[in-house]
Amino acid sequence: MWVFEEILPTGKKLSESINEQNENCKYLPGIKLGKNVIADPDLESAVKDANMLVFVTPHQFVEGICKKLVGKLRPGAEAISLIKGMEVKMEGPCMISKLIADTLGVNCCVLMGANIANEIAVEEFSEATIGYRKDKEVANRWAQLFTTPYFLVSIAEDIEGVELCGTLKNIVAIAAGLVDGLDMGNNTKAAIMRIGLREMRAFSKLLFPSVRDNTFFESCGVADLITTCLGGRNRRVAEAFARNGGKRSFDDLEAEMLRGQKLQGVSTAREVYEVLTYRGWQELFPLLSTVHEICIGQLPPTSIVEYKSGSK
Ligand code: NAD
Ligand code: 13P
Repeated sequence: MWVFEEILPTGKKLSESINEQNENCKYLPGIKLGKNVIADPDLESAVKDANMLVFVTPHQFVEGICKKLVGKLRPGAEAISLIKGMEVKMEGPCMISKLIADTLGVNCCVLMGANIANEIAVEEFSEATIGYRKDKEVANRWAQLFTTPYFLVSIAEDIEGVELCGTLKNIVAIAAGLVDGLDMGNNTKAAIMRIGLREMRAFSKLLFPSVRDNTFFESCGVADLITTCLGGRNRRVAEAFARNGGKRSFDDLEAEMLRGQKLQGVSTAREVYEVLTYRGWQELFPLLSTVHEICIGQLPPTSIVEYKSGSK
């Protein structure tokens, strides 16, 4: 396991601490890792000889990591991305699995689902969806690798749909957190989730007409939306943002509340907004647009429940 090296307050390196205690005391305290997990701060040595590579970092860092890996992978290596997010380039939006595949010349599936990490770590039952393009055999191999009695994995031949579900639900979770911070009830939150899911589907289909409706009923779709709107970090920080009347920035609250962990929803809202403005789709997506405008302080948190004509 490659680990982004950090010096802990004790002065010890994070990788050394993980290897001594068999536990990540900063990001997953209290959970023993498998004895075969060795933390390695050297990217090149971590991927050496690997034939199956799992990418799971905040999406902000993946491009830099991939650039360092060019030419270092074993020929024929397969990749899978658990990363929820997208990049917006001059040419338009680029999903993270495509960025990995194009930069490294590998086949890259995705795994998304209602998977809050701390709950999986204590082995509570959950489900996930693997998205793949064409190669079902590879998708089944990944599913076999990830499946345990408490983690059920299905496959869907809709890589863009699966990845966009995981990516876009983080924006809706920000909206749900704002609603919580405004002390609104369950009806309001359910309305936000419904409108959000509808916009997620419409946006995904506009970007990739091949995206399937069924994907939104898999774990990566409605289930991940529900769990993140109820218990995720995007929701929690957005609640604090609204309670502060939007006076403290998301960056500030993220640093204070998450201590090194990263929010995906705020940057994803900005990236999606760029696509919406560039393509002239803003009016079609009032919820996705409003979340970004609230995040940057252009609108107050209360705007999340102001009726706009597109929000049917
Ligand atoms: P995180 O948000 O907790 O961020 C902390 C991680 O980022 C640490 O592992 C840290 O070492 C690493 N990091 C910090 N600075 C870095 C840098 N400059 N370069 C590379 N790495 C750096 O991370 P996470 O929760 O593991 O999320 C990673 C991805 O997994 C995200 O796309 C997220 O959406 C997705 N995901 C997370 C969860 C969850 O519940 N945590 C669930 C499903 C999917
Ligand atoms: P948060 O980043 O909001 O905690 O969401 C985690 C997640 O993606 C659950 O599937």
